[in-house]
Amino acid sequence: MDLFPFMLKNQMLGLMKTIELNIQDAVYFAEKQYVDLKDESIKALATLEEGTGEGNDFLGWLRLPSATPAELLDRIEATAARLRQNCEYVVCVGIGGSYLGAKAVNFALQDSFADFYAPKPNEPKVVFAGQNIGEEYMAELANLLKGKKFGIIVISKSGTTTEPAIAFRLLRAQLEEQAGKDAAKELIVAITDESKGALRTMANEEGYETYIIPDNVGGRFSVLTPVGLLPIAVAGHDIKKLMAGAAHIEETTLHPADTNIAQTYARLRNALYRSGKKIEILVNFEPKLHYFSEWWKQLYGESEGKDGKGIFPASVDFTTDLHSMGQWIQDGERTIFETVISVAKPAVDHRIPMNASDLDGINYIAGKKIDEVNKMAELGTKMAHVDGGVPNIHLEINSLDEYSLGQLIYFFEKACGISGYMLGVNPFNQPGVEAYKKNMFKLLKKPGY
Ligand code: PA5
Repeated sequence: MDLFPFMLKNQMLGLMKTIELNIQDAVYFAEKQYVDLKDESIKALATLEEGTGEGNDFLGWLRLPSATPAELLDRIEATAARLRQNCEYVVCVGIGGSYLGAKAVNFALQDSFADFYAPKPNEPKVVFAGQNIGEEYMAELANLLKGKKFGIIVISKSGTTTEPAIAFRLLRAQLEEQAGKDAAKELIVAITDESKGALRTMANEEGYETYIIPDNVGGRFSVLTPVGLLPIAVAGHDIKKLMAGAAHIEETTLHPADTNIAQTYARLRNALYRSGKKIEILVNFEPKLHYFSEWWKQLYGESEGKDGKGIFPASVDFTTDLHSMGQWIQDGERTIFETVISVAKPAVDHRIPMNASDLDGINYIAGKKIDEVNKMAELGTKMAHVDGGVPNIHLEINSLDEYSLGQLIYFFEKACGISGYMLGVNPFNQPGVEAYKKNMFKLLKKPGY
């Protein structure tokens, strides 16, 4: 069977630079466990690929890169183009898996100061709501949108989540008031279940354009469905390249092998866990990856933290956090390991200028690219942390672009499924998320609670 449709295959040509995983500064911390876990990692990969494990009704994400029809991507691009043409702001409403993937990719690909520039024609600002219950946040968003042309993408798989429901009610009322009820309908897109939930009922009744979240794809694995793809396309990014990057990793992680990076990462993190390393810190040296870490924390936290088990996923932005968390990492309790995402090539060439007086004493690095200094900070930090007893897993992506991010997304998803099975949990449910909701509903006197 040819898993890879023509479109993706073509896009992959010439773009085959892949993620590089280097485990040499981590594996010797848990050598015995790593050797012992080889068969278990092969078995876990087979359980995932053959769909024989717990949660196997939520494995639709495995084939999203190769099996998403080109027509769906075309339709998403057409919807995005329509919103881009008609809006100065597009508000994406959602929480958890219905928010973090798009936020991570858009933040990684946008200008760091994008928020300070005014929207341009056909380039709306993409903002997020429904990911908190902040009264000031919602009031300030209403102020920002006052008198502006805006659209709404409302995303909820269950269609019943409280946070996005509150945000959508407020935003829809404002949009209908500002644009009129009929025009508002054309500016709202709902992404939800095919038939269930309040959002589906509302979308059908109001006649909004809708996209379906497949039944067999859970929230935190849904970034490569319309959930992530539409907000990413609206922000002007190339979703076909994102899917092509993911397809590359799908193809190269299908079978067990020492070169299977998802299997290797899952095997190593379980080996480290069994040797007492209970906390994994995802490290970046590129501030644009801040929200990628937030996405990763949800993916691993919700997938593995259950039945009294699970590596605690934490994250830091270096070098910023070397001046806060650096002390703990170097010297605190030795229960941690680091996974560093390194970006090989920055998109720009920006250098440190020479200064005649050299009063700040940094002429010794004048003429260097800023990234050269950053890379030396990265190397120096790795050496210090490894010396301090912190295993260091190193992942290198080519550059901050759609293709590399697509690779990274699928790599982490695949490794998460394998790793969860190795840990002995169902990586695809999240029973713990319900506990706070029940209490909140009782306190708010929701009927039935
Ligand atoms: O991963 C998950 O399933 C959750 O984080 C959900 O994405 C989150 O709770 C939002 O749910 P929904 O999309 O149903 O509103």
